[in-house]
Amino acid sequence: MSTPVSICVIGSGYVGLVAAVCFAEMGHQVICVDNDKTKVETLRSGGVPIYEEHLPELLGKHLGRGVEFTTDLAGAVEKCAAIFIAVGTPQGDTGAADLSYVEAVVSEIARSVTDYKVIVEKSTVPVYTNEWVRRVLNRHGVDAAHFDVVSNPEFLREGTAIIDFLHPDRIVVGAGTERAAQLLQRIYAPLTSGTYYDQSGALPGVCSAAQPARILVTSAQSAEIIKHASNAFLALKISFINAVANLAETVDADIEDIAAGIGLDSRIGPKFLRAGIGYGGSCFPKDVAAFHYVAQQQGLNFQLLEEVRRINDAQRDVFFNKVRSSLWTLRGKRIAALGLAFKGDTDDIRESPAIDTIKRLVEAGATVVAHDPAAIDRAKAVLPPSDKLIYSSDLYETAQNADALLILTDWKEYSKLDLPRLNRALRFPIIIDGRNLYKPEEMSDQGFTYVSIGRPATYNAQQGKPKKLVL
Ligand code: UGA
Repeated sequence: MSTPVSICVIGSGYVGLVAAVCFAEMGHQVICVDNDKTKVETLRSGGVPIYEEHLPELLGKHLGRGVEFTTDLAGAVEKCAAIFIAVGTPQGDTGAADLSYVEAVVSEIARSVTDYKVIVEKSTVPVYTNEWVRRVLNRHGVDAAHFDVVSNPEFLREGTAIIDFLHPDRIVVGAGTERAAQLLQRIYAPLTSGTYYDQSGALPGVCSAAQPARILVTSAQSAEIIKHASNAFLALKISFINAVANLAETVDADIEDIAAGIGLDSRIGPKFLRAGIGYGGSCFPKDVAAFHYVAQQQGLNFQLLEEVRRINDAQRDVFFNKVRSSLWTLRGKRIAALGLAFKGDTDDIRESPAIDTIKRLVEAGATVVAHDPAAIDRAKAVLPPSDKLIYSSDLYETAQNADALLILTDWKEYSKLDLPRLNRALRFPIIIDGRNLYKPEEMSDQGFTYVSIGRPATYNAQQGKPKKLVL
């Protein structure tokens, strides 16, 4: 086992909390700081504020041993060698990331730096943030010999965050000095040397002692751009496949076959080619906009990113129009909506296409009965209360007497529905699937009219294929 490092993580959101607990799992001593007293109290008593697989067990394992929670930033900074900043960088009015939380934290760190610290940007930040962090520290009178600023972006996905952290495709360290790079290398040594994977109780994943995690050391600017460019490229893949899906539909081709055919080319790869209702979440929409803004600031017109966003926005309209053209009018219709979260395995509803669709359906006069295994409470906090919006925790009650059922989130349980039971519950056997969870032939065999993305719709035998109508 390599030597433990004392680590302070500032921010206990998705990235901060997962990083704190995983660093403890890797054998380090971690203090996680948040200025939200209630959240710190919850965490101290073992409560987990987010829905994330393995988080409760790792927190239980390390709380009070490898990881502690506090509101005392100065005290934590003093005790630690590495300070990870993992606070929010929300989207501002111009599309640029709002870095005010980062700046506030850096100013506070500055007051407590008395000996050498490595300050690490873990939040997603635009290029040159490392330089701004350095300047803020200088302005507050911190001796340049007392710190280095490193960019160490995170590539975890919500829902699989812990495994992504411990079994990363790569670890990126953007460091300007050898001293700082070495500390980060020491922190990640359990993963890069593979010793973690040999430990009893290590969480299994793609990495192993024989094939440990890879680390890439770059300049801070390159690391900052790697993060933005990775998210932008993944978003681009999704928008690309959605644009192809819309074309496929017009010529009766099947986007699932097309995606398989494209993805088998090893230069392209099969991942992130799932056509659907468009991407959401706290990262892709924000990061595509922020990266576009970064390019603009450098005098470049990175219009491709604007197109990625445009296709994604339009995809929500494509789906909404499918609902309208399946049901004709919406006022007075009862619609079952499966899913509120922006994707399966999370309770996060930020920028969720499901939430947007439900809002529009209610505004159009439909009654929506919404189901989600984890996100109902969060949805209630943002969707305006209405007698036209009912939440249900039972899948088949959700479908009861509905004029149609929509699949909006790719929860695993939605791909294993009891189709005969669903058919009996629905008023009309119409399914409009924004996630392509079923095969069209299977659905028509089960008596459904089934409309999905980028594939020919199939029809309930009695109803037959309708004429194309103009709405
Ligand atoms: C994303 C990235 O995948 C992570 O690498 C990154 O660290 C993270 O953002 C971040 O910057 O913090 P996340 O937003 O958790 O992770 O979720 P993804 O699994 O990437 O899905 C994003 C959206 O794309 C979801 O709405 C999902 O349904 C959609 N998606 C994904 C598709 O529509 N099609 C696909 O083929 C894949």
